Amino acid sequence: MAHTLARLVESIVEATATPYPVDRYLELIDPMITWRDTRAKITEVRRQTDRSVTLVLKPTRQWKGHGAGQYVEVSVVVDGVRHRRFFSPAGAAQNTDALELTVTAHSGGFVSRYLRENARPGMVLGLSAASGEFSLPAQRPARTVLVSGGSGITPVLSMLRTLVAEGHRSPITFVHYARTPEDVPYRAELDALDRTFDHIDVQFHYTRTENAEHFAPAHLDGLADADGAQVFLCGPGTLMSAVKEYADERGLSDRVFSEAFTIDTSPVLDPNEPITGDITYTKSDVTTPNDGRTLLEQAEAAGLDPEYGCRMGICFSCTKVRTSGCTRNILTGELDSEPGQHIQICVSAPVGDVEIEV
Ligand code: FES
Repeated sequence: MAHTLARLVESIVEATATPYPVDRYLELIDPMITWRDTRAKITEVRRQTDRSVTLVLKPTRQWKGHGAGQYVEVSVVVDGVRHRRFFSPAGAAQNTDALELTVTAHSGGFVSRYLRENARPGMVLGLSAASGEFSLPAQRPARTVLVSGGSGITPVLSMLRTLVAEGHRSPITFVHYARTPEDVPYRAELDALDRTFDHIDVQFHYTRTENAEHFAPAHLDGLADADGAQVFLCGPGTLMSAVKEYADERGLSDRVFSEAFTIDTSPVLDPNEPITGDITYTKSDVTTPNDGRTLLEQAEAAGLDPEYGCRMGICFSCTKVRTSGCTRNILTGELDSEPGQHIQICVSAPVGDVEIEV
């Protein structure tokens, strides 16, 4: 009954607020007062390494917490455009009041670099519910091996912190690959866990030091193949493939669980190369060959009439979602190929195949 009443009030409020969702009005008062949207206010900012930023967030009441290993979609408005990215919370699953994200600023990562440089307490971010299948089994493993590389540390750290918080006492080995010791966020905490608990063993391998160590079978021999061991793996593609190949060779594939993450690297393209590819206007179900002009001009040439205002990259009224492919901003020359990105089609020229929601 209470639920039905709440739904009724909700529909009345939404209907009164039409044509915009009620949260568009509420955010004018305070972005943390929301009806439906989940948002989170940054309460603490730590820059643990030269390339990362750790954010502690206080989510709005809609937040239901996360499972160790899951990810969330975070959105941030930069120059009037909302950008969305996925990050894995680093905190223990038991901590449902706060959310901790450690974001590594990759050279081509627009949002990660923006947060690394601009995040400050009080800033409000958009937040999705947590999702993802990469998680600890309800029946905890008899031996847990957590393997990570670079920013893949966050979901497995969440697993480790969750196991510690619940007083899990079976052996846990944490194997992490980083460029250098200075590049490991949470290194002091991990060292302290290693020293404090007999059943926790932390091993670091550094790939850009004098005696560089990339993955080698010896790093997991005796661990991944031990009785009852389950391996949870997250990191860059090279590490994931090396560990999976090792597991295949040893017949251990069914006990390795992994989560891939990709670094946003725009393709390096030669501007003198011939123009190639097709543009697919997904909402209109039209595909035309790319002739090199802006997406707005090419859409109009294809008989479509997307909304626009200034045609100069100022008013944002032409903003559409690029579902896949790469575009060049003709004002800045920047290439961008992140799927799901909102782009201004009046100043974006496609490079190769592009799908755009027009
Ligand atoms: S930004 Fe004004 S039309 Fe594209």
